[in-house]
Amino acid sequence: MSTTDLKLEAKAKLTLEDKEYELPVVKGSESEVGIDITKLRNISGAITLDSGYANTGSCQSAITFIDGERGILRYRGYPIEELAEKSNFIEVAYLLIYGFLPTKAQLDDFHYKLTHHSLLHEDMKKFFEGFPPTAHPMGILSAMVSSLSAFYPEAGYNADIELNIIRLIAKLNTIAAFSYKKSIGQPYVYPQNHLSYAADFLHMMFSVPTEPYEVPKALEDALDLLLILHADHEQNCSTSTVRMVGSSEANLFASISAGICALWGPLHGGANQQVITMLQKIQDDGGDYKKYVNLAKDKESKFKLMGFGHRVYKNFDPRARILKHAADRVLSELGIKDPMLDIAKNLEDIALKDDFFVERKLYPNVDFYSGIIYRAMGIPTNMFTVMFALGRLPGWIAQWKEMRETPGVRIYRPRQIFIGETQRSYVPISKR
Ligand code: ACO
Repeated sequence: MSTTDLKLEAKAKLTLEDKEYELPVVKGSESEVGIDITKLRNISGAITLDSGYANTGSCQSAITFIDGERGILRYRGYPIEELAEKSNFIEVAYLLIYGFLPTKAQLDDFHYKLTHHSLLHEDMKKFFEGFPPTAHPMGILSAMVSSLSAFYPEAGYNADIELNIIRLIAKLNTIAAFSYKKSIGQPYVYPQNHLSYAADFLHMMFSVPTEPYEVPKALEDALDLLLILHADHEQNCSTSTVRMVGSSEANLFASISAGICALWGPLHGGANQQVITMLQKIQDDGGDYKKYVNLAKDKESKFKLMGFGHRVYKNFDPRARILKHAADRVLSELGIKDPMLDIAKNLEDIALKDDFFVERKLYPNVDFYSGIIYRAMGIPTNMFTVMFALGRLPGWIAQWKEMRETPGVRIYRPRQIFIGETQRSYVPISKR
């Protein structure tokens, strides 16, 4: 029986030794089915074990829907392809956080607030001075977001939270650009209220006091698209981290700072940096991409095709499909010929025909082509994951807010199956 046909009143049955337990079934609006084990330990004494949480639903959410088998991604019901073509990042942020598409007046007000909160407290500039120039911008980003809680403490009132949400989106752009300026020893460039979110970021990155940077429209649009495509992805590693930390009622800034750290890892958002490092290595090695596909198939080598594979997508990641076309478009609009784009396409072609990748349903993910566009924008490789964080911020906020507003949410506290020593007596050091 397919799960689509399952009736709401259906029950799951679990037999443990000679006893049978009935467990309620939860059905989502897209017919996803979950077995509710909330009471399992109380009734049976057993827990479930699910390494990597691959089969565990940690919450019920109305924000983002993914069907990984069919390559579908929707924010609040709207297909990612439509939003990518017709919307802009600020509107998508509003949609994710508040649940509906804003009217013109609501959007104008949101944009006004975002631009009028984009300055950093001048004292925060001193923090940047303490970091060595070699500091990774993700480390700076998470530290600065966490320290926002010192400047804007949240007393737990909704009005504070709403304002802190605005402050965080507005200031992350500025913090991200300042961390880059710090790393190259240039003076910080302040935000400009008349620019869009994407254009303002590029202005703060590339303007210098002696010469303002005229943001090319092609780059502004490309960055806006990248931010939309990264804006949410339901219960991934960093989002679950944000919810985990937020479940202890930690403040917004602390929760998002934790999410930034989770995103940093090479198996998650850090993959976009690793993809370019990998493509560069292949190029330096003479462009023999087949050799690297073979290496990825050899488990002994520990080499993976970065930007390939996904826990949820067992089909094309729809974001990767959009970005592949965007990479072609942006590079041609800018008149750039990047040999890495050819290497990436060749890698994709050969991997998609290879039995190893076909059997495991490994497709390019969102990180595979994004780095090529960031490179074309002049963004340095170690800033790529920061770009991901900028895009993902509205999703993290929406998920954190949804959790805070859901009645009855409990602190996240998984259990374990203990496999260590059973009780034994302490041995004095003289007798060991
Ligand atoms: N290259 C080679 N083999 C791979 C790759 C890859 N990129 N990804 C998965 N596989 C293989 C695994 O070795 C495994 O093979 P096996 O069944 O013979 O043991 C099989 O495919 C299944 O992979 P898992 O690691 O079990 O899949 P999981 O869901 O745990 O991991 C992940 C998903 C982390 C994304 C993985 O595919 C990976 O490491 N990819 C490269 C890093 C990357 O691009 N990360 C970004 C993901 S998107 C995002 O977070 C924004």
